[in-house]
Amino acid sequence: MSEVAQLQLIGLTVVGTGVAILLFIKAQFIRVIGFVAIVLGLFSLVALSVPQMASLPPAEEKFDLATVKTPADMAAIGQKIFFSKGQCALCHSIGPSESARCPDLKGIGAKLRKEFIYESLTQPQAYVYLDYRHEGLPKEYPARMPYINKNPIGLSKNEILSVIAFLQQMSGEPVSVTPAELEMPGTTPAPPTKAAGSGPMAVAQAN
Ligand code: HEC
Repeated sequence: MSEVAQLQLIGLTVVGTGVAILLFIKAQFIRVIGFVAIVLGLFSLVALSVPQMASLPPAEEKFDLATVKTPADMAAIGQKIFFSKGQCALCHSIGPSESARCPDLKGIGAKLRKEFIYESLTQPQAYVYLDYRHEGLPKEYPARMPYINKNPIGLSKNEILSVIAFLQQMSGEPVSVTPAELEMPGTTPAPPTKAAGSGPMAVAQAN
């Protein structure tokens, strides 16, 4: 029996006792106790009927490097991270949405090169608003893009690469992040490979 069910049983017993007292016992003082027992018992039963939610920190996506073989494997992990630990979906939508407070990321993997996305995530303050891609005045967003590689979100490099793989995949792009870029435990982190001759901030890939 689950813990909640046990507590519910206790609650029911208390209510039952209270009802029995009211039915069969005439002594005024004990009847008061019975009444109180019914009220408290019902109160706890209502409280226990509320679904229980434990708020635990999100579990780290496990990178079993042996099982991540294809870019599609990375995208699948990235998708989970996008909607859970990465908290991206708190601010971003994929596709137009009334409630989205921040840029819609639909098609972002086709608009931005992976190096640019990597930098958008890890150095959001360096993000250069590329006006030529947008119409009208630059938009003010009611939130700030957090440092994805620092606390509280604190994604590891492997997790960020996976999220980028997911963004590319959901944009219908070939995933250009490969499992070969994943950091093996105990090796020094390598920066994401850069296209020769252009810094990551230099160009957003024009379509
Ligand atoms: C607290 C809200 C918030 C969270 C959480 C967040 N972002 Fe952002 N993000 C923003 C804002 C605001 C901008 C726009 C920054 C700007 O224009 O300077 C942005 C910009 C971006 C951009 C650049 C968009 C463009 O059109 O150039 C990318 C890519 C991005 N976010 C991806 C992500 C991913 C992936 C995650 C999760 C790992 C994430 N964001 C989590 C608020 C957020």
